[in-house]
Amino acid sequence: METNEYAIEFSHLIKNFGEHRVLDGVDFKIHKGKITTILGFSGAGKSTLLKHILGLLHPSSGVVRVLGKDLSQLSEFSLREFRQKFGMLFQYAALFDSKTTFENIAFPLVEFTKNSYDQNMERVKELLDAVGLHERTLHRLPSELSGGMRKRVGLARALALKPEIILYDEPTTGLDPITTKMVNDLILETAVRGRERQMTSVIISHDIAATFRISDYVAFLDHGKMVEHLPVEEFKKSQHPLVRRFMEL
Ligand SMILES: Nc1ncnc2c1ncn2[C@@H]1O[C@H](COP(=O)(O)OP(=O)(O)OP(=O)(O)O)[C@@H](O)[C@H]1O
Ligand SMILES: [Mg+2]
Repeated sequence: METNEYAIEFSHLIKNFGEHRVLDGVDFKIHKGKITTILGFSGAGKSTLLKHILGLLHPSSGVVRVLGKDLSQLSEFSLREFRQKFGMLFQYAALFDSKTTFENIAFPLVEFTKNSYDQNMERVKELLDAVGLHERTLHRLPSELSGGMRKRVGLARALALKPEIILYDEPTTGLDPITTKMVNDLILETAVRGRERQMTSVIISHDIAATFRISDYVAFLDHGKMVEHLPVEEFKKSQHPLVRRFMEL
């Protein structure tokens, strides 16, 4: 099997918080250039798993390989550098409240590149276009944007450095149905656009309909174990009792 077929590989990952085993021997490989969604009941360990991809949490035992690198071999400094390869969009797309749309989106460019202001402005305008925001939002503060627009700004910021991997932790939780559909469409569009450069998308979701609509692969985490991982069409037919129960909710 080619080593570069997978963007992320977990080998027997165990994570304990004190006495509490939250990840219980996860063996799981995420395909490069595809959209993989991780489903599971609340408390299953999904967010904990995602934090291991970023090296924000360290395994109690087991190995996490990302883009071919064993994260435990990277120093804190190298990890910081390495994280430039990721985009993240979390539930509360933490924008800087006192920064404008331009400043929010340009933030990683200012932090990690030597771009001039004009180069940043050009890139930010490209990104606005990619996420469907009008240029007139450039100088507005987050408080002057709708929830859906703030998500778009968060996504534009996540895409600023052309990440190889983009991670979404419940990107639509708490949004109304129309904004939810818009955000899901945007995730799909972003993935399709990123496909030519083999961008990998990993989504944590509770939304079955959206998951089936946008994913290539679906995995199901239960009590810290990956109990199912299949191409979406096969996942729909899964006979795993927990998966069935989840789908019937
Ligand atoms: N830093 C931490 N310290 C101690 N316990 C933690 C920590 N982070 C997570 N946990 C525990 O690990 C378990 C899994 O949490 P996690 O956030 O990964 O679940 P989840 O599947 O993302 O749930 P949800 O769908 O509700 O977001 C929970 O019992 C949680 O309390
Ligand atoms: Mg979570």
